[in-house]
Parts: sequence; C-alpha cells; structure tokens
Amino acid sequence: MKGLEGKVAIISGGATLIGESCASVLAGYGVNVVIADINEPAGERAAQEIGAKASFVRADITSDADIAALVAKTVECHGQLDFLVNVACTYLDNGADTTRSDWLKAFDVNIVGSVMLMQAARQHLKKSKGAIINFSSVSARVAQIGRWVYPASKAAILQLTRSQALDLAPDGIRVNTVSPGWTWSNITR
Ligand SMILES: NC(=O)c1ccc[n+]([C@@H]2O[C@H](COP(=O)([O-])OP(=O)(O)OC[C@H]3O[C@@H](n4cnc5c(N)ncnc54)[C@H](O)[C@@H]3O)[C@@H](O)[C@H]2O)c1
Repeated sequence: MKGLEGKVAIISGGATLIGESCASVLAGYGVNVVIADINEPAGERAAQEIGAKASFVRADITSDADIAALVAKTVECHGQLDFLVNVACTYLDNGADTTRSDWLKAFDVNIVGSVMLMQAARQHLKKSKGAIINFSSVSARVAQIGRWVYPASKAAILQLTRSQALDLAPDGIRVNTVSPGWTWSNITR
C-alpha cells in the first residue's frame, strides 16, 4: 500500500487484540499511530511492542475532555491527523433485561463516543482529506439469542457511517465501515 508513510492515525480501542493489529499494520506502512484506550497497561504494552511509530494516550471516549486532549496531543506531537479508526466497544448487554442505564452506557461507548471524536477531529481531517473507519460487526445483521444492545449499536454504526459519509464528503473526508465476523480477540479467548 503506497502513500501512507508519515500519515497519522488515532485508533480508539487500540489496546485490544484487534485494535493492536490495526495499529501494527498501519505502523508497518509508516503511519504514526496513536493508541487511545482506557486500558493503560495494555495500551502502553501495545505501543511499546509496535515500536517507534506507536504511542499510547489514555483516553475514555465517553469523556469530552479526554477526547479534546487526545486530538490536541496527537496534532501537537505529529502536526496533523489523517485517520480515525473507531475500534473501541463494550459488550455490555443483558438482552431483554438490560437496564436503561446499561443501554445508555453501551451506546455512549459504541456510537456516541466515536461521533464526539469525529467532531473534535473534523477540522484536522478536513485539512488532510482524511478518512474514518468505523468498526461494525456481523452482529449488525443477524439476531443472536440473549443479545440486544451490542447488535443494535453495531447496526446503528452502519447507518451512522452512511450519514457521516454523505455529510463529510464536502470536506473530502471518506467514511467506511468494517464488519468483521468472529475474530480471535479477548472476548473469544
Ligand atoms: N471479536 C470479534 O469476534 C468481533 C466481531 C465483529 C466485530 N468486532 C468489533 O471489533 C472491535 C474490537 O473488538 P474486540 O472483541 O477486540 O473488543 P474488546 O472488548 O477486546 O476491545 C475493545 C477495546 O475498547 C476499549 N474500550 C472500551 N471502552 C472504552 C472507552 N470508553 N474509551 C476507550 N476505549 C475503550 C477496551 O479497553 C478494549 O481495549 C469492536 O468494535 C467489535 O465490535 C469484534
């Protein structure tokens, strides 16, 4: 893949197996990756293992202050921002019995956080004609026994991506979804 050398990516949820793999592949193409996660030990370790192209910033995507600091620090360190990779998620889900509070918590992490991150990053992505990658799931399209919240949030990401792609196109920002099937990860482990 050509043209990625020197670009800059924020990867939310980059401390997990899937997020770390994304970070590692991008770093291999010369991208400076900023791993943003609430899991400090795993985030620090991932950045260290990937090497000089990676750094870790502790950031909770349900916190507007953390998001602002994450974007500011990334641009301060690297001078630009080209990609947002929204991997962070929660599997908080008690099916039919999920409480209001858990519905709101899960949607805050799985949907709202990425939108707030996009808002904070938009001016920089516009400058670099960058791209956003939202992680959905096979769960967006099939019913799964006992799971209501996670699949609904992943289905919402599909439509969110269409809306973002349409409205950010005039800024030159591309928005796409990746929908993995079962993938080796912490939850499957
Ligand atoms: N594992 C699979 O089989 C599978 C299948 C389809 C889609 N996906 C998608 O791939 C992505 C990664 O999945 P995974 O199984 O590796 O998930 P995971 O739960 O192992 O990792 C999610 C990461 O997000 C971080 N995170 C959680 N809340 C956060 C917050 N508020 N702020 C910042 N970071 C936060 C966690 O610390 C963790 O590092 C998710 O978007 C998931 O929906 C996974």
